[in-house]
Amino acid sequence: MNEEKTAKMNLSPDDFGLLQSLLSQRVGISLAAGKEYLVVNRLSPLVDSFQFDSLHGLIQSLERNADAALWDEVVDVLAVHETFFFRDHAPFQQLEKEIIPSICAEAEKSSRPIRIWSAGSSTGQEAYSIAILFCEIAPHLAKRVQIVGSDVSSKVLKAAAQGIYRKFEVSRGVSEERLDRFFDPHEGAWRVSSRIREMVEWKKFSLAGAWPLLPPFDLVLLRNVMVYFKPETREQILNRVVPVMNPTGRLVVGSAESLMSYEHPFQPVTSMNATYHVLPNKASSLS
Ligand SMILES: C[S@@+](CC[C@H](N)C(=O)[O-])C[C@H]1O[C@@H](n2cnc3c(N)ncnc32)[C@H](O)[C@@H]1O
Repeated sequence: MNEEKTAKMNLSPDDFGLLQSLLSQRVGISLAAGKEYLVVNRLSPLVDSFQFDSLHGLIQSLERNADAALWDEVVDVLAVHETFFFRDHAPFQQLEKEIIPSICAEAEKSSRPIRIWSAGSSTGQEAYSIAILFCEIAPHLAKRVQIVGSDVSSKVLKAAAQGIYRKFEVSRGVSEERLDRFFDPHEGAWRVSSRIREMVEWKKFSLAGAWPLLPPFDLVLLRNVMVYFKPETREQILNRVVPVMNPTGRLVVGSAESLMSYEHPFQPVTSMNATYHVLPNKASSLS
């Protein structure tokens, strides 16, 4: 970088501190100390595209609440969107062999919709993996399955709704057989077939902000997203999930995430080398 460019992209400790608190308030994301280089790298292109004089100017504009498009871009470039189909073997084995069959058994007793929420869905692989499992396990119930995929980033949700994945992305988790059954070739890539896409609705909102009205879910996937929040925010979110779950609903968090340090009513159920969580009345019927 030349001198002028270096000055333009300078990130003072005050600006970093301000950005940390703005991100925490607005989206719950906690930006750890030591991530200054990441902020400079990721926000520098936005300084130019939104025509700010400097990184300082961009952060000041965020403080003044900026336009929604700038906030969208900032959240998009600073959030971690890593995901893949059928992510993590043990929880997906448990979903396939235990959780989804038991949701289907309950659903057989009524004609109500089966509702699933993939919270922090990123580009959609998690929600589509669940849709595929329902089609495999209980094709006759698939029409009743309503999946909500939500994320704070508009960009990932747009990609999720399109459902188009590069070869590299499908190679991470999708078997040949599933590729054949549930994807269509699309301009050198693969598109999730329309019957799978139709099972999912995409919603943009922050888990740390106001939530839209959500129906009671049979299964909530809150995987690999709370890791970016402060402990208080994690605890609040866990407790806000309770009223949007059916009494028999199941909560699945990321394989490396534990709910042990937080106050909440969930109880763990461990099987097949994985753990999911249920509300107390369900836990007593399982013991
Ligand atoms: C690492 S991805 C996890 C995707 C998927 N759940 C999985 O486990 O593969 C985390 C996602 O959470 C989203 N996210 C981060 N903060 C959020 C917030 N406050 N509200 C909703 N989504 C958020 C990010 O945009 C990102 O797409």
